Amino acid sequence: MAILNVLTFPDDRLRTQAKPVSQVDDSIRTLVADMFETMQAEKGVGLAATQINVHKQVIVMDVSDDQDTPLVFINPKIDAQSGTKINEEGCLSVPNNYAKVERAETVTVTALDAQGEQFTVTAEGLLAVCIQHEMDHLQGKLFVDYLSPLKRQRIMKKLEKEARLAAKA
Ligand code: NI
Repeated sequence: MAILNVLTFPDDRLRTQAKPVSQVDDSIRTLVADMFETMQAEKGVGLAATQINVHKQVIVMDVSDDQDTPLVFINPKIDAQSGTKINEEGCLSVPNNYAKVERAETVTVTALDAQGEQFTVTAEGLLAVCIQHEMDHLQGKLFVDYLSPLKRQRIMKKLEKEARLAAKA
């Protein structure tokens, strides 16, 4: 397994559309294992392959308190959604910045698991937020895109400054 580099906003590669996985094979399972290791090292609750510059429709997630309920979504599709709810979101690609985003309250999603088996889950709460957030990544979209241009600009400048300082250190 390996810990992979997570791309940071405003990196253009985060804007890439991920392609569907044609076959869930060992290379995909290795990707999934590396993504879990990366997510845990970065203390995240979800990670999309886009964020590690792999443009395949693969998401890993664990929203449980004890980090003992790993979930894998390959080629996810939203079948149904209802309600709206505003939640505070963060993102490993937008480190140390949080903002309120409106999402569907409940989503039903169909995807393949790491064995290539299809499953359908109806989610609410943090799981529903996380599914929508990570599926956005696969479309090249970030939570900051929901914010006002001013707020987005402010976050971008802050992260660019931090990146410059980190490069000098
Ligand atoms: Ni994210």
